This record gives sequence, C-alpha cells and structure tokens, in this order.
Amino acid sequence: MTLTEIANEWRPPMTSLVDRKVIVIGGSSGIGLGVAEAALNCGAEVVIVSRSPAKLQAAERTLNTGHVTSLVADMTDEADVARLFEEIGPFDHLVSTAGTLPPGDPIGSTDMEAVRGFVENKLIGAVMLSKHAVRTLKAGGSMTFTSGINKDKPPVPGGSVVSAIAGSFSYFARALALELAPTRVNVVSPGWVDTPMWDIVGEAKSSFFADMAARLPSRKIPTAADVAAAYVYLMESEFTTGETIRIDGGHNLI
Ligand SMILES: NC(=O)c1ccc[n+]([C@@H]2O[C@H](COP(=O)([O-])OP(=O)(O)OC[C@H]3O[C@@H](n4cnc5c(N)ncnc54)[C@H](OP(=O)(O)O)[C@@H]3O)[C@@H](O)[C@H]2O)c1
Repeated sequence: MTLTEIANEWRPPMTSLVDRKVIVIGGSSGIGLGVAEAALNCGAEVVIVSRSPAKLQAAERTLNTGHVTSLVADMTDEADVARLFEEIGPFDHLVSTAGTLPPGDPIGSTDMEAVRGFVENKLIGAVMLSKHAVRTLKAGGSMTFTSGINKDKPPVPGGSVVSAIAGSFSYFARALALELAPTRVNVVSPGWVDTPMWDIVGEAKSSFFADMAARLPSRKIPTAADVAAAYVYLMESEFTTGETIRIDGGHNLI
C-alpha cells in the first residue's frame, strides 16, 4: 500500500467512549465480540465475559489490545454474577448479547428441560445481571440487552417459546428504564447476523443466507460489526431509554 493510499484510508480515532468501562456479557463470540471491538474503537476499556476460558482467550487474541480484559462467568449462576461485578468495580455500560440456541419443538412435543434451560440462560440471566450490576453501574450509564427477529417472525412450528422470551425483553427494558432512571435500559433486536451461532447449519449456511438476503429489503445479511453500531449508539445516546431498536435489514416487514 502506498503512503497516499494509507493516508486516504486513515480515519481519526473515535472518542465517544473514552474513559468509559464497558462490560460485554457474551463478548467472546459473534455479536458480543463485534460490540467489544466497536467499543474499543470508540476509546472504551472493555471487559468481555463468557463461560468458556478458551473462547475468551481466542477473543482477546482477536481484539489484540491492552484495553480489553476477560473474565469467566456464567450469567445463570448468581454467585458467579455477584463475584463478576465485585471484581470489575465501578463501570459505565453493561451490554449482554449472551444466549444459546432456542428450543424449536412444536408445542405438543415440548422438552420442558430444554425450555427451562433457555429461559434460565436468556431471561433469568438478564434479571440476575441487572440485579447485581446496579450496585456498581455509574450514574449516566446504561444497560443494553439483546432480543431478536424471532419475536416478530416466529419460526412455525416451534417458535412460541423463543418468540415469548425475545418479546419479553422490550417490556423488561421499559419497566427497568423507569425504575433505574436516569440509568438507561434498552434492547437491540437483530435479524439474522452472520455469527458462529449459525455454524450449526454447516454448509447450508451460505445458501440460507443467500436466500434470506434476496428477500430482505437490505438485500444483505449483516456482520457482527454492522449490528454493533446499534449498541454503541445506545451507550452514547443520553436520550434513548426503554427502547427496542430493530437492526434486522427490514426482516420484520416481509
Ligand atoms: N446470530 C443471529 O442471527 C441472531 C439473530 C437474532 C438474535 N440473536 C441473539 O443474539 C445473541 C448473540 O448471538 P450470537 O450470534 O452472537 O451468538 P454466539 O456467537 O453463539 O455468541 C453467544 C455468546 O454468549 C456467551 N454465553 C452463552 N451463554 C452464556 C452464559 N450463560 N453466561 C455467559 N456467557 C454466555 C457465549 O460464550 P460461552 O459459550 O463461552 O459462554 C458467546 O460468547 C443470542 O442471544 C441470539 O439469540 C442472534
């Protein structure tokens, strides 16, 4: 690359999150890793959290900066969550993208253990994070949770549980935004995003994505970095609270 090309590509560093500490639960993969990178690019100190030490180490290597640290914790384990916030101390923004694949059985053959595990991981986990985060979340800070397109377009059959849980986040955030004001509480609702969560479909992923992209008003499937911009906006915007922001390429419209 020539010096002129380098100069043309150079952008001034963004500084909107300088001196801010951001915790990303689920920051070792997918959307959370994208949020961690975006927050770092805006000058934040970032703590990424998930259950797997190996995934966290790989994520730290990817992010490759001294401004990121990682902590192992399972957000469904209250002792872990309490220890996590004690260890981190005062911080500015909590983001949770943590989640696992939802159960997808038709209602008549529901595996109740799988449903309980999903609710525990997604919704109870968010409640537990909020409970312990409020002790050390600084004034002017925010919490951002993650729902998803399944509340607007539930898979049929088998989408009732994931639709209910994803939908519940909007009401959780609205109520908590009032209770915790002026701390802001919001939700990001992504459509399909190209992340490791999709590895489960194997080689079919590229044809799934091509078919969906052709149907979407956006005509493409976003990366984690594309979606991370919504989380950064919610950390920055002092006037957005109790809100659910869709970033789904118009999926909810089709
Ligand atoms: N990708 C999509 O197309 C899409 C679309 C709509 C909504 N969403 C939602 O967005 C969220 C993130 O999806 P993604 O695609 O980024 O998934 P992903 O790449 O699989 O990442 C999920 C992250 O959550 C962590 N995690 C899971 N359970 C946890 C727990 N109990 N405690 C702490 N960390 C936990 C995982 O790490 P460990 O395994 O190490 O814990 C991982 O870092 C999910 O809730 C998903 O339902 C995704």
